Amino acid sequence: MTRIPTAIPGLDELIEGGFIENDVILLTGGPGAGKSTFGVQFLYEGIVKYNEPGLYITLEESPARIIRNMWRHNWDLERIIKENKLRIMRANPIAYERYIKDMKPAEGFVDAESATIENILKQIYKQIQEIGAKRLFIDSITSLKISSDPATERHMILEFIKNIENFDCTTLITSEIHSVPESFSVEEYLSEGVIRLHVFRVGGNRVRGIEILKMRGVKHDEVMHPYAITDEGIVVYPSETVIGKDTDILKPGFF
Ligand SMILES: Nc1ncnc2c1ncn2[C@@H]1O[C@H](COP(=O)(O)OP(=O)(O)O)[C@@H](O)[C@H]1O
Ligand SMILES: [Mg+2]
Repeated sequence: MTRIPTAIPGLDELIEGGFIENDVILLTGGPGAGKSTFGVQFLYEGIVKYNEPGLYITLEESPARIIRNMWRHNWDLERIIKENKLRIMRANPIAYERYIKDMKPAEGFVDAESATIENILKQIYKQIQEIGAKRLFIDSITSLKISSDPATERHMILEFIKNIENFDCTTLITSEIHSVPESFSVEEYLSEGVIRLHVFRVGGNRVRGIEILKMRGVKHDEVMHPYAITDEGIVVYPSETVIGKDTDILKPGFF
């Protein structure tokens, strides 16, 4: 099986060298956990180090904001967009009709034509074909859950992930952590792998921990390790653990 390096220092050694090629991996965590940074790093380094074109589907932040924020890590996304190695496609099912129709897409950015799941999937596939994308980042699946009926919502997410699985791309999908951390969401059941980013507050300090909840077909680490968001992006410390003397404070689900 071909392994796709995550490009997150310290992470690959917890999962036998990287993601399994063409798997769909879910990245969960609360706001500010570093999900978007993780995904951009996966795409950017994939392009720069491994020459694998990447596609970023954003359902939240605008492409301009993403580009601006990622300058903090010295990732020049504009350059690789111009080289046709990266595309950032905005697809916002909720805001589309109200806000997007008057906006002209800037050069290199593509807006989804219509806000249905089916149309978003078609657009994603078209972009993958056009740049030969090998890595796909969808940020976030939570924004696709626009139905108030749980059964419809489950069906939509199921359809979405099943389709993505056939796109021949190694895919990372973010999901905002839900209110009951011990329970699993439908996307967590459906994905081949689930990585969870925890942010704890201990005294005045913020402690970040990364946990591989599952990775089908992979003998993966089960310990929570610290990670940091640095000027170079996300860094995982595989030989250190988060749960130590302060176990009482660091209860699972304490965000
Ligand atoms: N160079 C840096 N050093 C430390 N923290 C940083 C750095 N750059 C960004 N951050 C932090 O990263 C977080 C943003 O991460 P982001 O990937 O947007 O999270 P998410 O997508 O999970 O909401 C913010 O809390 C921000 O303060
Ligand atoms: Mg984000």
